[in-house]
Amino acid sequence: MSKLEQTLSIIKPDAVERNLENEIKDMFKKNGFSILKEKKIQIEKSEAEKFYKIHETKPFYKDLCDYLSSGPIVAMVLEKDNAIIGNRKLMGATNPKDADDGTIRKKYGISIDKNSVHGSDSIENAKIEIDFFFKD
Ligand code: CMP
Repeated sequence: MSKLEQTLSIIKPDAVERNLENEIKDMFKKNGFSILKEKKIQIEKSEAEKFYKIHETKPFYKDLCDYLSSGPIVAMVLEKDNAIIGNRKLMGATNPKDADDGTIRKKYGISIDKNSVHGSDSIENAKIEIDFFFKD
């Protein structure tokens, strides 16, 4: 069953730094996503820690938060039928070396840390993550 959903996408510092913002946005648009909201910002480490709180017990948490706050990112609200699963498919596996051909991470990802994009993993987290960047 299809359901119109919104999901939070982030173009991460490695991709912004390599000027891949427009190419990645084009991939979203070509795959039927509407970009409802977007902003380019650099966040503080304390904000990254809040955003990734779900991972706070993981060994990679500190590096992850250092990394997300290391340079400009583009946060976007994407909309499409079944946007959450659709975005996860389009992004590909977390580790670019495991990602399928045609996915964003296969095409642009450098490593499991510098994997170019983030996307919400559930309806519940999409709401929380969209509010994190766009509630004002
Ligand atoms: P993301 O989808 O933004 O969610 C958390 C991020 O942690 C993930 O992408 C990866 O970039 C990063 N990460 C680093 N190491 C790991 C790991 N072993 N497993 C999962 N995610 C990892």
